[in-house]
Amino acid sequence: MPRTTGTYQVSTVAGETVRAFVPMALPPDRPRLHLEGPISAACTSAMTAIARLDIAASLVPNTHWFLYGFVRKEAVLTSQIEGTEATLRDVLEFEATARTSRIDDVAEVCNYVEALNHARDEIAKPDGLPLSTRLLCNAHRLLIQGAGGHRGGDKKPGMIRTSQNWVGGTRPGNARFVPPPPDAVRRALADLDRWIHGHDPLPPLIKAGLAHVQFETIHPFLDGNGRIGRLLITLLLEHWGVMKSPILYLSHSFKRHQREYYDRLSAVRTDGDWEGWTLFYLSCVEEAAADGIAVAERIFELTSRDRGQLMSHASATVAAIRLLDLLPSNPMVTAPKASRLLGLTGPTARKAIEVLKEIGVLVETSGRKRDRVYAYHAYLQALTANEGCV
Ligand SMILES: Nc1ncnc2c1ncn2[C@@H]1O[C@H](COP(=O)(O)OP(=O)(O)O)[C@@H](O)[C@H]1O
Ligand SMILES: [Mg+2]
Repeated sequence: MPRTTGTYQVSTVAGETVRAFVPMALPPDRPRLHLEGPISAACTSAMTAIARLDIAASLVPNTHWFLYGFVRKEAVLTSQIEGTEATLRDVLEFEATARTSRIDDVAEVCNYVEALNHARDEIAKPDGLPLSTRLLCNAHRLLIQGAGGHRGGDKKPGMIRTSQNWVGGTRPGNARFVPPPPDAVRRALADLDRWIHGHDPLPPLIKAGLAHVQFETIHPFLDGNGRIGRLLITLLLEHWGVMKSPILYLSHSFKRHQREYYDRLSAVRTDGDWEGWTLFYLSCVEEAAADGIAVAERIFELTSRDRGQLMSHASATVAAIRLLDLLPSNPMVTAPKASRLLGLTGPTARKAIEVLKEIGVLVETSGRKRDRVYAYHAYLQALTANEGCV
């Protein structure tokens, strides 16, 4: 049954007729979201996959090992959907050396990491901001800080837009989608906040997907709407306790199915097809959970194997063992960085690196004689297997 999800507000911009879409508040109504049948089955299998991911994650001795890699991988992929060309290696190398040849793109990814961490901290603090438009504005400010660079333009960090924007096309008149006029944005966001904190009995996993669509439809910022809207999913899943540790990240799936992702967003507006979106989103959740499980298992195997190998190595030192434990959350290091991490002298840290190089854990990647950079190569491969672009 067709369903209306909003109204069009017609105006004239530079002599052209523009139809800006103003969404109705959530939840989907008349009819309500059709939960029975395929959606219910897809939700059950996505939740089963998430439960398996939780178990796989609990095998790894330290959740931070995961979090570090998963968060950066998500940051790279969500930025790649936006058009960034930075890779995970670019970002890790920058974190290890403060040097990069792609400063704009790498900075964008690092900004995302900062925005995510900030939002997480606020929500966790007793006196922090709740998950709200205000918090998303703060996250946006961190995300867009220093932007300009090669993409140019003033993107108004942290500020809700006061002008008409559009998606696809070169101007509102030929755009694929024209979001609400600026004077309708605040109200639409307030409705979204209210719904998020209300008591809608829909499954939280599904609710996070609906919130994402609504956020993209409102498109409250001049840029960064996709990244903040995907961040919203991550924060909601965590806030609602959909999984035990926050290690489900969807950007890889959205990127793999980018055309369908955009088509499904559009179809909610044009055909009222919330069900089609929800099925697509749940299949992305399941795919992302399966990816996460595979990565967790690979990391578990690899780190256990490398530890065993180091322990049985004749010249293993205590510093080398400690450094190995630090590598999952610092997969690229230099000698000065290792020395800082370990709190030990340069020569002792260099010796630890030497030992880890001998057993094949660390691989020199810079090809330089000085300022050498070492990577936990197999770990990075385990984190990004089958994803050449990351
Ligand atoms: N047809 C559409 N309808 C609604 N939202 C869309 C549509 N196509 C793309 N989007 C969303 O808009 C985002 C791009 O908006 P933008 O503000 O440039 O965000 P970012 O800079 O983070 O990519 C996409 O990532 C997607 O989430
Ligand atoms: Mg953009």
